[in-house]
Amino acid sequence: MRDPYRNFAGIYDRLFDSMNKGLRLVGIRMFRPSKGMSILDVGCGTGAHLELYQRYQCNLVGLDLSPAMLEVARGRLGAAAQLDLGDAADMPYEDGRFDLVMLMLSLHEMSPGTRTAVLNEIKRVLKNDGRLLLIDYHPGPYQPLQGWLSKLVILFAEIAAGLEHFRNYRHFLANGALPALIDRQHLMAEKKQILAGGTFAIYLLSQKLAD
Ligand SMILES: C[S@@+](CC[C@H](N)C(=O)[O-])C[C@H]1O[C@@H](n2cnc3c(N)ncnc32)[C@H](O)[C@@H]1O
Repeated sequence: MRDPYRNFAGIYDRLFDSMNKGLRLVGIRMFRPSKGMSILDVGCGTGAHLELYQRYQCNLVGLDLSPAMLEVARGRLGAAAQLDLGDAADMPYEDGRFDLVMLMLSLHEMSPGTRTAVLNEIKRVLKNDGRLLLIDYHPGPYQPLQGWLSKLVILFAEIAAGLEHFRNYRHFLANGALPALIDRQHLMAEKKQILAGGTFAIYLLSQKLAD
């Protein structure tokens, strides 16, 4: 399969990490892991998110579909994380393995069917009392100036990522983005923050126990 990130992986962090790092730090403040926890980053990309979790002495695992992104992640993390090539819609992990699963800026680029399959897989590999950290685009309302400017930058990036990526992004926002997916998946929001003038959302979630 063609890797959509093959020409892009080497410059991804230079383009986006100044913006992404702020979002990652908000996520860490929402859920500070303790030593020994098992953490999975789904769609881990270049490993920048996992790198921030190294200081907590957790067992770090990253999964990604892109060999090019994983190569950058391997260069960055070395033996500090287990990095697996694979589709998050069919994860190679046993049930109930992880205390924390993170998914940042990946859901919006997946097809609708893949999104549902990935969230089902995440619920399977998460411990019953585990947490899910979701970070992705938010459908507004957008605040004047900050929100509109941020939306413009996002639009350029999503168009540059190619037609299929852009179509999935449009579908994600038009269908309610994270709030709608969380509702459909019967997940419970413990904490939530809307950032960058209404263009990004961060949710800390747990599995809803059966009624
Ligand atoms: C925009 S990048 C974000 C990377 C990283 N989460 C970050 O915050 O920097 C999206 C990543 O999701 C990965 N991805 C997309 N669909 C996937 C799937 N079905 N399974 C695993 N990874 C996937 C892509 O290969 C890419 O590395």
